[in-house]
Amino acid sequence: MRLKAILTFGAIGLLVGAALILYINITASKSFSVDGLVLNEADPINGSYVYLAAGCNSCHISEEDPKKGYLAGGQKFETNFGTFVAPNISNSNLYGIGNWDFKDFYGAVKLGQNPEGNHYFPAFPFTSYSRMTDQDIADLWGFWQTLPSVDLPSGKHEVSFPFNIRRNLGIWKTLYLQDSFMDEKNDRATYLVEALGHCAECHTPRDAIGGLKSSQWMHGAKNPSGKGTVPSIHPKDLGWSREEIVEYLSSGFTPNFDVVGGAMASVIENTSKLELSDRILISDYLLRLGDK
Ligand code: HEC
Ligand code: HEC
Repeated sequence: MRLKAILTFGAIGLLVGAALILYINITASKSFSVDGLVLNEADPINGSYVYLAAGCNSCHISEEDPKKGYLAGGQKFETNFGTFVAPNISNSNLYGIGNWDFKDFYGAVKLGQNPEGNHYFPAFPFTSYSRMTDQDIADLWGFWQTLPSVDLPSGKHEVSFPFNIRRNLGIWKTLYLQDSFMDEKNDRATYLVEALGHCAECHTPRDAIGGLKSSQWMHGAKNPSGKGTVPSIHPKDLGWSREEIVEYLSSGFTPNFDVVGGAMASVIENTSKLELSDRILISDYLLRLGDK
């Protein structure tokens, strides 16, 4: 009897130990280096274009800032897991990322982790940005050096247990963070939509723990705040021509002469400033979804 008890305890101990080691391994941040990246000198002009196409300002501008250039944060994003607040990512040494280096920035955008090795919440759409090229991230960082700094403290997220434990996001990332593209054409159109434009982050429904349901890619979703929906942009639902999609991405006018509203308005503010050829590529990507 005693032997059986000892063996049982031993077995439970081993299982708990193994589970703990697995947890620690899966949830650990990645160690990485940027020294081996093959990069040209950063091009801030391309960086400013990447910034537009990726819509960093849509979430990070401070609502009090009429110039929309200061990235002091403060916008709130309500989700099923709690409320996230976009942080100050201006060049403020005190409150922003002014004392970061390229490696810190790369870790945030590409790996979704901060310089201390904590995971970010996917309310920051790094699952899309992780597909960005190393050169575009370097150029974006080059552009960052031209941006002002603003000393406003970031707000605090209000997220409930267990979702507030950043370590647990390591499990989430194992499930959902991948650098492959959904569209195997893997061309510039794919890159503009899936990496930079992060269109799927709003237009694809999410499962119970907030991962994108890839089987319903762009088929429309509940608004993350629970109020209202984001429409499907799959061509069988949208039914717009290439010219109509390009017009929408340029002016915000729908074929019925409605005007864009909600979260899409700030997306259009950015797409309207892209090269026409890129708006055409984005439209082609959407139409291609109907081929499958
Ligand atoms: C959909 C809204 C959204 C968009 C678009 C967005 N972000 Fe964020 N970002 C967030 C949120 C929310 C956080 C906070 C994440 C956290 O605390 O885990 C964040 C965090 C960050 C951080 C970490 C700051 C820190 O102090 O650790 C950086 C850096 C950042 N974003 C850069 C960018 C860049 C660069 C872009 C464009 C390529 C971008 N963001 C686009 C919402 C967004
Ligand atoms: C931050 C969330 C968000 C992102 C990111 C986003 N959208 Fe949208 N989109 C919306 C919302 C919300 C609407 C509905 C707008 C309205 O009600 O006027 C919409 C509407 C649209 C429509 C019109 C659909 C209709 O039936 O009226 C198209 C087309 C579209 N988006 C394409 C895109 C493309 C392409 C991208 C990526 C470049 C993108 N969206 C990124 C939230 C988003």
